[in-house]
Amino acid sequence: MSNRRIALLGAGNMGRALIGGLLRSGTRAELISVGEHLPDARAALARDFGVTATADNAQALAGAAIVVLAVKPQVAARVLAPLAPTLRDSHPLLISVCAGTRVSSLEEWTTGTVPVVRAMPNRPALLGAGITGLYAPGTISAGHRAAAEQVMRAVGEVVWVSSEDAIDAVSALSGSGPAYFFLLAQLMAEAGEQLGLERQAALRLAAATLHGSGLMAHSADVDLPRLRAEVTSPGGTTEAAVRVLESADLRGTVSRALAAAAARSRELAALRPDPDAADKP
Ligand SMILES: NC(=O)c1ccc[n+]([C@@H]2O[C@H](COP(=O)([O-])OP(=O)(O)OC[C@H]3O[C@@H](n4cnc5c(N)ncnc54)[C@H](OP(=O)(O)O)[C@@H]3O)[C@@H](O)[C@H]2O)c1
Repeated sequence: MSNRRIALLGAGNMGRALIGGLLRSGTRAELISVGEHLPDARAALARDFGVTATADNAQALAGAAIVVLAVKPQVAARVLAPLAPTLRDSHPLLISVCAGTRVSSLEEWTTGTVPVVRAMPNRPALLGAGITGLYAPGTISAGHRAAAEQVMRAVGEVVWVSSEDAIDAVSALSGSGPAYFFLLAQLMAEAGEQLGLERQAALRLAAATLHGSGLMAHSADVDLPRLRAEVTSPGGTTEAAVRVLESADLRGTVSRALAAAAARSRELAALRPDPDAADKP
């Protein structure tokens, strides 16, 4: 990692995952500052990571070349808007991991004074095994793109998308994706029970199969049809099961499920919070 100072606003699940990942990938603790309003969360950062946190977000930004916004989307406006003057003076790169929060909103709340990159990580980032979809408007420099990529690589892989709308697809695929695999594993365990397995054994078999399959699929040049073919002997058990799944239109069901998630992502983004909402009745 470089010697650039990084500030994180919000040290919940994702903020902590990023801090842990940055430290693991070589960023020194003294180069990380955190704005977090919960005293317990600040104490936990000092204890777990040796990282200094403050309740004063403007103070956390001091000297930062990169600011990561990792608060809940519904408070993003309220956190960013008062920081606009500080951001205008220091002009850092702003990376937002806030789901459903558009670049146009982030620019509005910061009065257009900082370059903005959107990042959509997923839950396995908490273990350093995530994947992040990144989007940057055309005005963002190659250096800032590289910096955003480097930060998000601290919690897993990164994939660039070329339009902001594609972030809704990233949310639908990898953002929500862990839940689909968990659901499938749960349904497999329940089906295993119906076939006579003990509940705990069925759960272990399903969860370990999910884990092992994930490891096998984890390669840059993954060939999913080949992996599937390798466990599908003609006339065998797997083929019998896959035939049932295909006849139940699994492909169409998955397609509709992801379309519903992407549509919901667009809907949530349209419910853009008003930075002054907290002051209104
Ligand atoms: N977790 C995931 O798997 C995941 C995946 C993709 C994207 N994201 C995005 O990551 C962001 C953070 O998610 P999360 O799961 O880490 O949420 P979280 O655990 O609730 O963490 C957010 C933290 O920010 C704090 N905060 C709130 N207002 C603040 C302020 N004014 N100044 C400083 N800190 C403040 C929160 O405190 P309070 O609890 O008091 O509000 C909390 O400690 C969200 O925008 C989410 O969309 C998360």
